[in-house]
Amino acid sequence: MAVLEIKKYPDDILKKKASEITDINGNIQKLIDDMIETMYKSNGIGLAAPQVGVSKRLIIVDISPREENNSLIVIINPQIVSTEGEVLSEEGCLSLPGFITRLKRNEKVFVKGFDRKGKEIQIETDGLLSRAIQHEIDHLEGILLIDRISPLKRELFRKKYQKIKK
Ligand code: NI
Repeated sequence: MAVLEIKKYPDDILKKKASEITDINGNIQKLIDDMIETMYKSNGIGLAAPQVGVSKRLIIVDISPREENNSLIVIINPQIVSTEGEVLSEEGCLSLPGFITRLKRNEKVFVKGFDRKGKEIQIETDGLLSRAIQHEIDHLEGILLIDRISPLKRELFRKKYQKIKK
C-alpha cells in the first residue's frame, strides 16, 4: 500500500466527470488499498478516486472515530437512487485545505453500487454518512464544495485562495 498525493483545487482532474469501472481488476484493488491508506493518513472521512488523480467512479467513506477504522465503505460506480429531506451542515474537503462551509444536502440517501468484490450493495442512510457519500459522489461528477455555494461566497473563497497561493 502507498500513500497517494491528494490533488488540490484548482487541479483540472477535480472538474472532470469520472468514468465507470467496467473491470474490477488488480489495478482497481491496489487503487482501493492506496486510497484507504491515503484517507486514514489524511484524517479524512471520505475520498474519491479523482482526488488521487484517477478519473474513475470509485469512492471510499469511513465516518467512524479514527482509532476504530471498522466501518469502511467502498463503493464502485455509486448511484444515488433516491433522496429525502434537506439538512444544513458544515463540510470540508481534502482537496480544499482549510476551507469549511455550511451547505445544504439531502438528509437521507439511498445509494446503489458495487463493493470491491463486485457484489451489488445498497446503502440507505442519513446523518454524516449520507453527507459524506453525497460529497464523494459529487467528486465523480467534477463538482466541488465551492461549486455548491453562493456566487458571493465563491468569490470570497477565490480571493482568499489567491492570497494563500502568493
Ligand atoms: Ni472532497
